[in-house]
Amino acid sequence: MPSVHNISEQEIIQSLQPLNHRFFHIDDLAQYVQKILNIGNAEVIRDTDNNLLSYILYYDNQDDMFVSMVWTHPQHQGKGLAKKILRNLIGKTSKNIILEVHKDNPAKYLYEKSGFVVIKQEGDLWTMKLERV
Ligand SMILES: CC(C)(COP(=O)(O)OP(=O)(O)OC[C@H]1O[C@@H](n2cnc3c(N)ncnc32)[C@H](O)[C@@H]1OP(=O)(O)O)[C@@H](O)C(=O)NCCC(=O)NCCS
Repeated sequence: MPSVHNISEQEIIQSLQPLNHRFFHIDDLAQYVQKILNIGNAEVIRDTDNNLLSYILYYDNQDDMFVSMVWTHPQHQGKGLAKKILRNLIGKTSKNIILEVHKDNPAKYLYEKSGFVVIKQEGDLWTMKLERV
């Protein structure tokens, strides 16, 4: 029984498929989504017609929270939606938050502006962390 009810498998796959291997690399997208739906969590922003505007996918099953994906609909980017959804998540937990981002992905600016710092660089992949006091 999936633990995530606020977003569907189809919505995640449709939103990520066109971006995969451009901004990030997910080998098996279907498996990735199943894992999120089974043991992960999602926060979503929708419009009044229930269209998906932005979401964050994360795992909260370890000492540190792990953000797996942040996405905003292409027509709604640059309006602060991702920043808002990330802020909401930060406000909900006192855990440190970890994420990984490709060094050329502009999403790194979102994370930097939200207080994340680079703690590891492995090839093109950066690990970033928001350390809580
Ligand atoms: C990354 C992404 C989620 C940002 O969504 P968004 O809703 O447009 O972001 P916001 O409008 O909330 O921007 C937040 C901050 O990040 C900065 N930022 C976001 N995208 C940026 C870009 N392409 N270049 C420079 N800065 C950027 C904004 O300037 C903003 O800073 P500000 O508050 O000082 O103005 C969106 O571009 C996306 O869906 N990308 C594809 C999926 C992806 O790669 N996700 C990350 C995987 S690690």
